[in-house]
Amino acid sequence: MERSKNPAGRTAYWRVDPARPDPGIMARAGLILRQGGLVAFPTETVYGLGANALDALAVARIFEAKGRPQDNPLIVHVADRETVGRLACRVPASAGKLMDAFWPGPLTLVLPAADTIPRQVTAGLDSVGIRMPAHPVALALIAAAGVPVAAPSANLSGRPSPTTAEHVLQDLNGRIEVILDGGPAGVGLESTVLDLTGDVPVILRPGGITREELEKVIGEVRVDPGIDGVPDRGSPAGEFRPRSPGMKYRHYAPRAPLVLVEGEPERVAARLKGLAESYLSRGWRVGILATAETAGEYKEGQVVVAGWRKDPATIASRLFGALRRFDELGVDIILAEGIEPRGMGLAVMNRLRRAADNRIERV
Ligand code: TXA
Ligand code: MG
Repeated sequence: MERSKNPAGRTAYWRVDPARPDPGIMARAGLILRQGGLVAFPTETVYGLGANALDALAVARIFEAKGRPQDNPLIVHVADRETVGRLACRVPASAGKLMDAFWPGPLTLVLPAADTIPRQVTAGLDSVGIRMPAHPVALALIAAAGVPVAAPSANLSGRPSPTTAEHVLQDLNGRIEVILDGGPAGVGLESTVLDLTGDVPVILRPGGITREELEKVIGEVRVDPGIDGVPDRGSPAGEFRPRSPGMKYRHYAPRAPLVLVEGEPERVAARLKGLAESYLSRGWRVGILATAETAGEYKEGQVVVAGWRKDPATIASRLFGALRRFDELGVDIILAEGIEPRGMGLAVMNRLRRAADNRIERV
């Protein structure tokens, strides 16, 4: 088999109609995947960096291109439900119900892995994360490739996930064969990762589908206490072992350190103003990540409005773009308003807490 190479070290950039992707372009991109190449593509959550999930060498290139730790497993993307039966050795009834309700869509199901899946994909675990994305370009690409597609978010490891093709270019230009530009991703945060290998389903990563939505379909769902990367209260430091390996790494980090303030909106705004003044007086360039409701409070600093507190989905869709915007503005510190961790707010706060890397204040 001829492997696709990129001798010039340059990445092809192909624009596609997000609603009706050109079949010729999709066939070319699908062939590149089948031949072992890397293709970045839009999904409804964030942009993914795809490789043939059944090709261990191609999958290894994903880790290389992103600088991703080897022990962090990848999600396998499918375009039809039949493929799930070939990737998982057991598909519980709850999985079927969830696929009916939420696929295609931002929900990844962790199931017991079949032994056809290369170890590079599962990072040696005996389970595999599978999802069917809702974006027409993603579905057309997977179908054109004719193979399941392993795809992490298409950012350098540790950076905020990309919600536009421009973000992918910033991180991965020259490292991958193709970027498919299908416009901005809609949800803006990654899929919910739900572990179905135990007795009770457990959310390993909150995302596009909320706990409340899942519980309507399958009853009790637990949230892994380690989702924010903080050990359970009472457990000695170092004893915390996350069930999803990705949870132990610092993530979603803009270049400047981020301080997160959580609590009642008015108190949060007051504390943020105080912090901003003190950093400004020391000559720091200050970025403020605000919600639309309280943005008017800040008269100084670079204020970026993420969205509405009353509708956390608006914040979700713009959060990663806002974090990257602070890089462009060249601020020295980012002061961020926390929101209520419910519904989509849970996913937003998970990403913010991890970006804050323990610099969290509760007022
Ligand atoms: O929305 C998304 O899920 C995006 C788009 C591209 O589909 N993908 C994505 O992939 O966010 P990535 O690699 O950035 O995050 C995958 C997460 C990691 O936290 C990883 O540890 C977890 O899923 N994961 C994958 N397979 C797993 C498994 N078998 N068991 C537990 N966690 C798993
Ligand atoms: Mg990621």
